[in-house]
Amino acid sequence: MASVADALATAEGLLKTAGIDSPRRDARLLLGSVMGWPTPMVAMRTDVLLMPDQEYLFKTLIDQRVQRRPVSQILGRRGFWTLDLTVTGDTLDPRPDSETVIEAVLDHQSDRTSRFNILDLGVGTGCLLLALLSEYPAAVGVGVDISPEALAVARSNAAQCGVAERARFVHSRWGDALAGMTFDIIVSNPPYIPDDEIDGLEPEVSLWEPRLALAGGPDGLNCYRDIMPHAATLLAPAGIVVFEVGMGQASDVARIGQESGLSLLDIRKDMAGIERCVSFHS
Ligand SMILES: C[S@@+](CC[C@H](N)C(=O)[O-])C[C@H]1O[C@@H](n2cnc3c(N)ncnc32)[C@H](O)[C@@H]1O
Repeated sequence: MASVADALATAEGLLKTAGIDSPRRDARLLLGSVMGWPTPMVAMRTDVLLMPDQEYLFKTLIDQRVQRRPVSQILGRRGFWTLDLTVTGDTLDPRPDSETVIEAVLDHQSDRTSRFNILDLGVGTGCLLLALLSEYPAAVGVGVDISPEALAVARSNAAQCGVAERARFVHSRWGDALAGMTFDIIVSNPPYIPDDEIDGLEPEVSLWEPRLALAGGPDGLNCYRDIMPHAATLLAPAGIVVFEVGMGQASDVARIGQESGLSLLDIRKDMAGIERCVSFHS
């Protein structure tokens, strides 16, 4: 039987050889999940011996990581804002950068008690919509996605987060199925990677994340051009629209929004200082 220290050393070596840039952290995360321990405990209990079934399970998880499957997909979970969300191969892995969208909405709509009607176009795991519903306890919301598989994950996450009764999920191409409705807060993190850049991204993204969540057309801006007229029509008076954008896209997205009749509120940077979020009002 191998000890935790031995298992970690072997796994770290394999992950390093596979080109993973955080081999120690990933090995600890995966071993923690096998042992049912919080990750920090893995570093403190290095002399514990693994049972054969734990050794086998850890090996299968490390094998997956060697294939560059993201840790979030292997564990099936990802923390976002204050939420713990299910992640699958049908959903984009929620990124910390996307929390900039939540911060922008909270700044622009500061009354937490309002019964806002919120729309998330391209809901994926539901991370944006569910974080907003958790921050605005009287709000209701709709999450739209073209992927039925992603919608199933978002629905299940809404239940896990305790907001299912305030969230509705709709299979639609952007706002097509929402005619006649209006929303106080519209958010969207659409696919924005230029098509020919996807294969050059790290394998965790190019091999494992759904292309439908990544591909933004030749210049990465196609979805903004598609969504903007929907957003302008669906926005209630005094409502706001907040978009996540890729690096270098903020001024183009600001222009596309203004061409659709929206008024620019601001452009906000993420924690790395990259312009990440473009907000409009009606
Ligand atoms: C970049 S992911 C964002 C997911 C999630 N909102 C987040 O921030 O992690 C974009 C999402 O848009 C969805 N999508 C792509 N094209 C769409 C379309 N034409 N209509 C509706 N949703 C679409 C994808 O399936 C994917 O779930």
